Amino acid sequence: MLAVEQLLQRYCTERTVEILMVHGKMVAGKALEVCGQLQVDAETRKLVLESAYLHDIGVCRTAAPDIGCNGSEPYIRHGLLGRELLEAEGLPLHALICERHTGVGLTVQDIDRQQLPLPRRDMTPHSLAERIICFSDLFFSKNPSRLEHEKSVAKIREGLALFGADKVAIFDDWLHEFSA
Ligand SMILES: [Fe+2]
Repeated sequence: MLAVEQLLQRYCTERTVEILMVHGKMVAGKALEVCGQLQVDAETRKLVLESAYLHDIGVCRTAAPDIGCNGSEPYIRHGLLGRELLEAEGLPLHALICERHTGVGLTVQDIDRQQLPLPRRDMTPHSLAERIICFSDLFFSKNPSRLEHEKSVAKIREGLALFGADKVAIFDDWLHEFSA
């Protein structure tokens, strides 16, 4: 496996690395369950495992002091910022996972409608690895007091419903595709 912790350490504060390693472990647990369920190939499994730890690396450039991040960028940009960091690190597939993991993915319509400070391009997950990380991440928070708490399906649906029934429908499709 890539030295994910060292990569996080290159960009993030000690506090953030600590949080992302626990969050990563939780997301990895869920994501590897899905990999087992679908019997994915070894290469995809490796990408998924590494990305469970790396997908939030972009938070280090955002203003999120509660998780040790002292940057100046809006939090909603952490996926995009993570993509830029990991592309510069020569990890284009991990980079796309960063950009495409917010909620169930952001469409150009979402970006326009919510006037998000993001480039107008499709940021929804396409590849299997992108979809598995996006799905698995929905179950866990980076709130330091709830890192190891797995959200219920009902709670996830409730959160997504705030952004539209179509978002809940995408999650439901993944539940069906990824569950035993
Ligand atoms: Fe995450």
